[in-house]
Amino acid sequence: MTPPLGALGARLEERLRNRSATVGVVGLGYVGLPLAVGFARAGFSVVGVDADPTRATLLAAGTSPVEDVPTADLRPLVESGRLRVRSTPDALADADAIVICVPTPLGKSKEPDISFIVAAAEGVASVLRPGRLIVLESTTYPGTTDEVLLPRFSKGGLRAGEDIFLAFSPERIDPGNRTWGLARIPKVVGGVTPACRHLAQTLYGQIIEQVVPVSSTQVAEMVKLFENTFRSVNIALVNELAIVCRRLGMSVWEVIDAAATKPFGFMPFSPGPGIGGHCLPSDPHYLSWRTRLAGYEAKFIAFADEINGGMPDYVVELAAGALNEQTKSVKGSRILVLGVAYKAGVGDIRDSPALQIIESLLARGAHLDYCDPRVAQVAVGGQVLKSVAWDHADLAAYDLVLLLTAHAEFTPRRLVDEARLVLDTRNATGVLGEFRHVIRI
Ligand SMILES: NC(=O)c1ccc[n+]([C@@H]2O[C@H](COP(=O)([O-])OP(=O)(O)OC[C@H]3O[C@@H](n4cnc5c(N)ncnc54)[C@H](O)[C@@H]3O)[C@@H](O)[C@H]2O)c1
Repeated sequence: MTPPLGALGARLEERLRNRSATVGVVGLGYVGLPLAVGFARAGFSVVGVDADPTRATLLAAGTSPVEDVPTADLRPLVESGRLRVRSTPDALADADAIVICVPTPLGKSKEPDISFIVAAAEGVASVLRPGRLIVLESTTYPGTTDEVLLPRFSKGGLRAGEDIFLAFSPERIDPGNRTWGLARIPKVVGGVTPACRHLAQTLYGQIIEQVVPVSSTQVAEMVKLFENTFRSVNIALVNELAIVCRRLGMSVWEVIDAAATKPFGFMPFSPGPGIGGHCLPSDPHYLSWRTRLAGYEAKFIAFADEINGGMPDYVVELAAGALNEQTKSVKGSRILVLGVAYKAGVGDIRDSPALQIIESLLARGAHLDYCDPRVAQVAVGGQVLKSVAWDHADLAAYDLVLLLTAHAEFTPRRLVDEARLVLDTRNATGVLGEFRHVIRI
């Protein structure tokens, strides 16, 4: 049932339904850009604001820096004026609905750094007029929308649910995932009031197949943290299982595959060299920080962080052990690292465990090259390394080929046939069977 919306809310609802509304998107990164494109493709007039002028200029020229948004999709929207890109928030003055998708990193002590949210909110507040809907999508601790955004938007007497409408809706996009794109991933929405929630539901209902309403912004904020904590904890569990299986002389991959045949009550996760990206290493800390303020120490989060955070060192030890078996040391060995992105199919190296592993191998004296078709160069351990081309890489020339990211380009057949020694942390070569010169995590 539709809650009472008032005159302003009813007008906004109509504009959202007939798609004559202008949608503003603040922060045009992995999350904001696909969203802006989604709204523009659905017929909305969209204004995107990114505070990074270089990025804004690139986007305004119709060039996409985000893998999930091909330039071929972006350019016609920009050229037709359906998607305008700017670098300052005054461009949001005519936006009926504004979605905020800015980064939420950690501070030095792993505390939430919501300075980007605050800056974005200040920008929105400076142009806010009655009848507007604002939705925060950035992952953050429960309470942010009500405690940080609402006071800024209700300055001057604007009332939530009557004059302005405020909601939280976590983004669940999975960069590089071709099966689950924006429109197909159900969208959770919590509003400051029922009218706020209803309007946010209406907005997302235009581009997303299923919208899942929850009772408050805090619940919506918590849903996202729970989802990512769930992943972090389960990855930690399977990483520990990998360590245990090695000690007990069995393949963790065989154990997982067999366990996954259980048709209920089990969900397979994969071990790997550690977790990376903007979300998994950070989001659980938003929850533990908030929980600590409430006088409770969240134990699973700390445990998972310890195990996942130890995986890069574990991989370095496996590499050293594998070379040792060949009567070689890390020092002086030629090592080729395959993949520096934090996961397959993307070029994102934020918090990638590969950087820590490379730094450690370099510090131990390895002669190291890397290859990542999506990352042209990386700065690590005081050096700038440039990717070697996969097609021209002489795998046999290396003492060890260390696969960290299972990009599709790294064909297992070639790896197994050409490399002299392989450490495969992703089980990319598992499909081909067992080989004496291939070690798996
Ligand atoms: N990347 C993911 O897979 C993913 C998935 C789900 C949720 N999230 C969450 O979504 C949020 C955004 O993540 P992302 O990966 O898109 O980040 P990103 O770094 O790719 O993009 C954020 C963009 O916001 C811009 N920005 C920063 N401050 C701004 C401001 N005040 N005004 C305008 N623009 C500003 C930056 O220049 C950048 O281009 C984070 O909270 C993240 O945790 C990310």
